[in-house]
Amino acid sequence: MYIVVGANGFLGSYVVKSLVSNTDEEIIATYHGKSEKLYYPRVNWVQLDVTDKNSISRLEKLVENTAECRIFYFAACHNLDLVKREPDFAKNINITALESFLEIFSDAESLWFSSTDCVYGENTNEIKAFKETDPTCPVSEYGRQKLEAEKVVTSYGFNVARLPFMLGASLLENKKHFYDNIVEKTIQGQDFTLADGLWRSALDYESVADILVKLSMIKNAPQTLNLCGDDALTKYDVGELIAKKHNLPMNHIIKVPEEEIMKLFDERRTSSTAMDNSLLKSVLGVSEIKIRI
Ligand SMILES: NC(=O)c1ccc[n+]([C@@H]2O[C@H](COP(=O)([O-])OP(=O)(O)OC[C@H]3O[C@@H](n4cnc5c(N)ncnc54)[C@H](OP(=O)(O)O)[C@@H]3O)[C@@H](O)[C@H]2O)c1
Repeated sequence: MYIVVGANGFLGSYVVKSLVSNTDEEIIATYHGKSEKLYYPRVNWVQLDVTDKNSISRLEKLVENTAECRIFYFAACHNLDLVKREPDFAKNINITALESFLEIFSDAESLWFSSTDCVYGENTNEIKAFKETDPTCPVSEYGRQKLEAEKVVTSYGFNVARLPFMLGASLLENKKHFYDNIVEKTIQGQDFTLADGLWRSALDYESVADILVKLSMIKNAPQTLNLCGDDALTKYDVGELIAKKHNLPMNHIIKVPEEEIMKLFDERRTSSTAMDNSLLKSVLGVSEIKIRI
C-alpha cells in the first residue's frame, strides 16, 4: 500500500497519477482543507492535517499494517516569504508535525520526504553544482527548516529527495501553477516578467513523480539524493520552453534583470543553486534526465 501525504498539492497529484499508472497497489491519498480530490480507481482520499496528532492517528487506524506502507511525505509550508514572516507557524508544519507523523509511522516500509535545493545555499566558483556530500549553508529560514526536517527523517532511517524548482500544468482545476499563469497570460496578450537569473536544476512535476515512484521500489537507495534535471536554467529559460511548447509568441515574456526580481521578495534567494544529479542517474541506470515541458 502507498500513502501520499499532500496528494492534493502539485507534486502529490502527479505522484498519485504515476502510482495509478505504474503500480497495482492500493493508494491512500491525503488532502488538507477543502481542496479538490482527483478521481482515480484504487485511490482512497482521506482528510489529514499533519499538525493535529488525532488526525494522524485516524489515518493510522485506516491502515491494517503500517509496516507494509510506502509513504511519500509532501506536506509543507514552502512559500519562502511566508516562512520568513511566520517562522513559528511554518516550523509547526515543517518540523513539529513531521516529527509527530514519523513517531506514528516509524515502522513504515519506506518513506520519501520532499526536501529542497534551498538547503545548499549559493553555488561558488569551486562548487558549480552541489553534490549530496557538499556542505549545506541555507540562506533562507525555509532552507534551514528543511535541513532540520531532513535530520529528523534520516534519524528514522528514511529517505530525503532534494528537489529543484518544479513546474508543470496543474492537474487541479482550482489550483493554478506558475506554468498555467504564463500560458494563460501570454494567450491573453499580457506581459509576463521573468528573471534573467535564479539558476536552478529545474525539472517538471511528471518526471519528478515518476522518479520518486521508481525510487520507492528500490531497496537501499542512498538516504539523501538530489532529484533534479541535468541543466541549470534561469526563470526566463523556463518561460521560453513553455512558450515554445504552446507555440506562444515570445514578445510577451519579458526578461528582467535578476536584481529587479530579487527586490520583489522579502526573503533572500540564491542567484544560483544548481545540483549535481550523477548519483541519482547511477541509481536509476540512466545517462540523462532532461526537463519535459
Ligand atoms: N514547488 C517547488 O518548486 C518545490 C521545490 C523544492 C521542494 N518542494 C517541496 O515539494 C513538496 C510539494 O510541493 P508542491 O509544489 O507540490 O506544493 P503544494 O502544491 O503547495 O503542496 C504542498 C501540500 O502540502 C499540504 N499541506 C500543507 N499543510 C498541511 C497540513 N497541515 N496537513 C496536511 N497537508 C498539508 C498542502 O495542502 P493544502 O494546499 O490543502 O494546504 C499541499 O497539498 C513540498 O514539501 C515542498 O517543500 C517544492
